[in-house]
Formats: sequence, structure tokens, C-alpha cells
Amino acid sequence: EKGTYPHYMLKEIDEQPFVIRNIITKYKDEDDSIKLDEEVRQAVQSADRIYIIAAGTSYHAGLVGKELLEKIANIPVETHIASEFLYNMPLLSKKPLFIFISQSGETADSRGVLVNVKKLGHQTLTITNVPGSTLSREAEYTLHTYAGPEIAVASTKAYTAQMAVLAILAVDTARASGLEMDFDPLQELGIVANAMEIFTEQKDVLEEVARDYLSVSRNCFFIGRSMDYHVCMEGALKLKEISYIQAEGFAGGELKHGTIALIEEGTPVIGLATQEKVHLNLRGNMKEVVARGAYPCMISMEGFQEDDDKIVMPKVHDYLTPLVSVIPMQLISYYAALHRGCDVDKPRNLAKSVTVE
Ligand code: F6R
Repeated sequence: EKGTYPHYMLKEIDEQPFVIRNIITKYKDEDDSIKLDEEVRQAVQSADRIYIIAAGTSYHAGLVGKELLEKIANIPVETHIASEFLYNMPLLSKKPLFIFISQSGETADSRGVLVNVKKLGHQTLTITNVPGSTLSREAEYTLHTYAGPEIAVASTKAYTAQMAVLAILAVDTARASGLEMDFDPLQELGIVANAMEIFTEQKDVLEEVARDYLSVSRNCFFIGRSMDYHVCMEGALKLKEISYIQAEGFAGGELKHGTIALIEEGTPVIGLATQEKVHLNLRGNMKEVVARGAYPCMISMEGFQEDDDKIVMPKVHDYLTPLVSVIPMQLISYYAALHRGCDVDKPRNLAKSVTVE
């Protein structure tokens, strides 16, 4: 039940710190190590390449998952849109593992791929919020995201939960493979949960940003680089689906190759800069759009912030910034939709789970 909340989406956004703490508890062993099924550990560790298959928001979590698994566990990963993979399968490696990411566990596009790769004899793992779901029952292995029921059509807590589980999985795999690891995901996720609360407790600031930037805009750009780029894609999807503002998540460095032509006087551009390697490059990209009239809103992180930044998130580990930086985007989308009189929990043309191809 949504209790005193006006919308499920707002309730689910607020639940995220608790979801992350719940995941920490569920994946922690008595000796504080990671608790994971030995079979799952084996399956991931023995794969020569991982194929992540998902749709929509879960696909965006999969893009972050690729970064985590490659950087932490040193396994090559490809992330694919399920409906594309289904009819256009790339050449596969010798010992692939397929990971399906799905909140509902019922997405038909992903199921189509699952059925096909099982026929080929490949190993399959589903990361889902609904353990009894079709994708969970039909895959060999399941990891549970423990986010609790997600009712709002726009996915929020399922996304952050998926990324948390992927981070845990990546570190567990790295440790099982004997890789040196100074990143403790269970501890770092605790810091993430606290950082998330800073935003869920300061909604007035984000409501103000939504009102200021998005009350009358026709479109909006989200730009970022590397991990931040993936979060920008998710921020843009959230804004599109509930506020119907045309939005695009873009790689900061790619704008000048065409898309910058769309920037006009007053076009809102939300910039995200949390990654040490590229935050200065992104600031350069922001200057380029500002010079063409864009109305900039910078989201940065403590340590890399500058005076004019609208939103500064608390410092969290480089690998986990998406779990925190997406929250201001979720809230900005929520308030933009609200101000524009949209039906936040049930946006037009959309269903919660997409069981047709
Ligand atoms: C966006 C959204 C959708 C889903 C997508 C996949 O807010 O909810 O993009 O993420 O339909 O659904 P699942 O994760 O259930 O497979």
C-alpha cells in the first residue's frame, strides 16, 4: 500500500536506502563475507564471456553491470537489448553465461532469448525481483534483488537493487578467481544507502529544479561520460515515460558530432559528472552547450564539485555512483510529471510488465 504517499513512484524512490540495506543483509554471511550459492559462483567464474540480456531500465542496469563485471572481475561482458538479440544474435564465445536482468521476470523479449540460448545448451542466470517468475523458473540460476513489490510503472528501486546485486556478484567472482580486491561492496553499499537519503530528504531542492527547468520545456538532454552516460540514459527514460518531455541521454563527447544542433536558447541540459577520469571532460562539454544557449544543471559529486553546480551528491565509491546519482534524476522526473499534470504511476501507453514481443 502507498500509505500517506500520493504516488507509488514517490514511495518506491524513498524506499531505496532501505532496499540497499536489505540487500546487504541478504547477501552477507555470518563472517561478513558475501553469501552466494556455490553453483552461481562457479557458473560466473567459469564463463569466458557474459552476455547480459534485458530491456528498458533493466537494460540500463545491465550497462552498468558490464562496467562492474569487467573492471572488478575481469570478465568480458556484452550487454544487449533483448528484442534486438532475439533476431540478431552476435557470434558467441566458447563458454558463455547469459544473465537476464528483469524486475518482473516476465518480459517476453528476454524470455525469447532465454528459450533460444537454453536450446543451444548455454548456462543461464536470472537477476529478478520476482523469484517465482517465468524467467526465474526457466533459468538455471536465480539471484533475487529483494526490492519488494514495485507497483509504479516507472522502475526506480528495482534499478538500484539490480546494480547493487551486480556489484556484489562482480566482487564475489573476483574473489573466487583470486583477484586482489580492496573494494568491499557490502561496506560501500552502506555508504551508498546513507548518500541516497540525502536526496530523499531534500525533495524541495529537486522539486525546485523540476519547476525551474522542466515546467514548459519541450525537450531535455542528459549528458555524461562512461558510467555517468549510462545513468543519463536512465534519467532520460524516466523523464520521457512519465512527463512526456522528449529527452535524450547522451555521451558528452558525442554531442558535437551532430546532436548539438538541437540545442537552442533555453534548452535544459542536465550534466552528470561523478567519474574521476572524465568529469573535467564533461564540464568541457557543458561549456559547449552553454555557449549555444543551453540552460545547464550540473549534478556532481563531493570532491569534484564546482561553485555553480546545482546538485552535489555525497562521495561514494566510483563503482557505485549510479545508485546515488540516479535518485535526483528520478525525483526531478517525478516532479516534472506532477507539475505537468501527468498520471505519474500509470503513464499513457505503458504497462508494468511487457509480456508480448
Ligand atoms: C521503465 C520500465 C521499463 C522496464 C522494462 C523491462 O521505467 O519500467 O523500461 O524496465 O520493460 O522490464 P523488466 O525489468 O520487468 O524485464
